Parts: sequence; structure tokens; C-alpha cells
Amino acid sequence: MLKEKTIVLGVSGGIAAYKAVELLRLFVKAGAEVFVVMTKSACEFVTPLTFQTLSGNPVHTELFNLYQEREIGHISLADRADLVVVAPATANIIGKVAGGLADDLLSTTLMATKAPVLFVPAMNVNMYENPLYRANQEKLAGFGYHFLEPVTGYLACGWEGKGKMPEPSAVLEQALRLLSPQDLAGETLLVTAGPTREELDPVRYLSNYSSGKMGYAIARAAYQRGARVILVSGPAALPVPCGVELVKVVSAVQMRETVMDRLAEATVVIKSAAVADYRPAVRCGQKIKKGPAEQLDLALEKNPDILAELGERKMTQLLVGFAAETADLVENARKKLESKNLDLIVANDVSRSDAGFDVDTNAVRLLYRDGSSEELPLLSKSEVAWQLLDRIARLRKPTA
Ligand code: CTP
Repeated sequence: MLKEKTIVLGVSGGIAAYKAVELLRLFVKAGAEVFVVMTKSACEFVTPLTFQTLSGNPVHTELFNLYQEREIGHISLADRADLVVVAPATANIIGKVAGGLADDLLSTTLMATKAPVLFVPAMNVNMYENPLYRANQEKLAGFGYHFLEPVTGYLACGWEGKGKMPEPSAVLEQALRLLSPQDLAGETLLVTAGPTREELDPVRYLSNYSSGKMGYAIARAAYQRGARVILVSGPAALPVPCGVELVKVVSAVQMRETVMDRLAEATVVIKSAAVADYRPAVRCGQKIKKGPAEQLDLALEKNPDILAELGERKMTQLLVGFAAETADLVENARKKLESKNLDLIVANDVSRSDAGFDVDTNAVRLLYRDGSSEELPLLSKSEVAWQLLDRIARLRKPTA
């Protein structure tokens, strides 16, 4: 995700400095080259050796250190960065930058860099609410510096309130967004994901093996590429992707209602949900008791076909469907593309053990309206999401 990216991680002196260690680990795991710059007071909380060991690069702490300057000067550090992240960012470092001061290595690097800068403030709630601090943050935001708001909770100083550094995974998501092409900026993606659950009685339901992983990966990648994302999800045990508006539904009927309600907001609709085609004709109010007969017949009635209805109702939206098949993949998918009036369909052979339901990888074929198609190799669902969004971005802006 961050291959060939260089991140300068600035750590200033707050108790949340320990979270910067985990953040560094996430950056490195995502493939980034990371150089850590610590303020003097940060070194009181965590040792440079910890960051050095995890980054595999020398940690920089001093501006006027001949050895460090020769190894990698502060200007070259500022130049090499694709992104500078200051986490935790104290009121002091934010105040210094807002005041145009550069009196240590971190503030000098921040002054010299042309890369985007993400501040992750963490401090006492009263400091965070102090009008002096607020004015500094607003001033920097006005100059194009990025901020990830602190979260509310129990603070190390004993106070309860807004001032906690967000989890490192949330910082990683913001960093990914800042380093991703913003080719979906201005688009609103309505994505459906997961299975639907059709209740039979208060303790039983009909459903399928969909985990929601593919749809959630699409929602996450779309947010990183600048889109506004509305994720309509059936029951799924997955974390909510950062920055995405999640609307939870249970049944196909509820999913239909939500999707139709939100359709006017969308410029692109991606229906990756595995919608149950049928639901029990009667939902029993009480648990169905075991009877004397050896067989129990269940009457089912048809659910609405949400995608087919979208195909009829769509205005300017780009409509993308999925086809889950166990045989005749291309023929069946092409039929769905045509009968549901889609622009693109992602054909999925769900009989494979490494693709489709509840696995982390997928092998898909993309079929287009003009009759063309392309096969993608076996990829992680995150990579499939990126490839699919490449195609969608191109279909939305053919001249870009
Ligand atoms: N779909 C839908 N509403 C339904 C059934 C399916 O919106 N009631 C959507 C799915 O989200 C998917 C596409 O239609 O994008 C194809 O779904 P799939 O299950 O592959 O096919 P079906 O149309 O249900 O046809 P069949 O089950 O006969 O293969």
C-alpha cells in the first residue's frame, strides 16, 4: 500500500508518544520507508532506539549534530518525504509551526518540506479547547496542513474529554488517503456489502456465506481515493472503514429501501452485496416448534431484485454489479449485465476456494457494456478493489 513512499514521522513530547511506536510499525508493514524525527521532550517518553530498531533507519533528534547532519541533513529529510506525519503533535509544535518558528530539527523539517503534513494532536482537553490553540490549528488548516481530530476519552492527565490520540490504524488510513491519487474526489459512491438475513422466526434466518470483505475493501479504497462513501451493509463482523458512512441493514427489503432512499446522492453505485433472492413467506412471531412430521416445508417468496430496479431507475449514475456464479461464469454474468442494465459487472467464480465468499483473495473477470472484458489475476480483495476503482474512475472521466 505504501511501497516506494517515504514518510517522515515526527514525534513530539506527549504521553501518546508510545502510540507512535505502533504507528511506525504499521507504516513499515505497509511498505513505507520511514525516518523518525523526535523532539527533545519526546525522548523523555520513548527512546530513539525503539524507533530506530523498528524503522531500520537512524533516528534524528538534533538540528546541530554534525554526525546526523552528514548522515541525512534536515533539508534532504524534508525533500525526500512524500508525507510528514506528526503524531502525537503537542500544542507546542503546532504553536511553533503556526508562528513560523524553526528552532529544532522537527520544526525545521516542517518548515522546509513541500510534502503534505498531517498533524495528529494529542493533549489535555483544556489545552485543546484553549482559543490560542484553536487559532493556531485553524491558521495551519487554512494553509493546507491536515489534521486528524483527537478522540474523546480518559486522558493521561486525569481529565475526561477530547484530546486522546486516535488509534494508529486511523492515522494510517488518513496517511493512505493523503498519499493516494484523489481521482474519485467529487464522486459519491453507494456501495452495498455483505449478506442479507431473512428471518424465519425470532431465532432463525436464511442467509449466505458472504462476509462483506469485498464491499468493505471497495468502500475503504474509495474513501482513500477521495470519494464520499455510503456503505449499506448487511450483517458483517468487520470494522467500519475510516471516513465511510455506514448504514446497517438486515433484510433484502431493508437494503432495497435504503439504497433507493440514497440513490439520488450517488454518482456511482456498486452492488457487491449477496442479496438473498427469497425470504420466508411467513415470519413466525414465535419460535417454530418441532412437530411430529419427518419433513417441514418452507414456503418462500421472492425478494425485490435491487440491482434490476436500479438499472431501471438510474439517471446519470454508473451502475456496477457483481455476479456470483458456480458455472458458465461469463455467459451468466453477461446476461445479468444486460438484463439489469449495468455499465460493468464483476464476475466471480464462487466455487473456487481462493475466490468469492469469506476469503481474503478474489479472482474476477470484468465485463463491460461494449462487449469487452478483462480477467484480473488472483489478488487480495483490497487489490481487486483498487483495480476496479481504476476502471470506474476511467469510466467516469474518460478524458482524464
Ligand atoms: N442483486 C440484487 N438483488 C437481488 C439479487 C441480486 O441487487 N435480489 C444483485 C447483487 O447485489 C449482485 C447482482 O444482483 O450485484 C447479481 O447477483 P447474483 O446473486 O449473482 O445473481 P442473481 O441476480 O440473484 O441471479 P441468480 O441468483 O439466479 O444467479
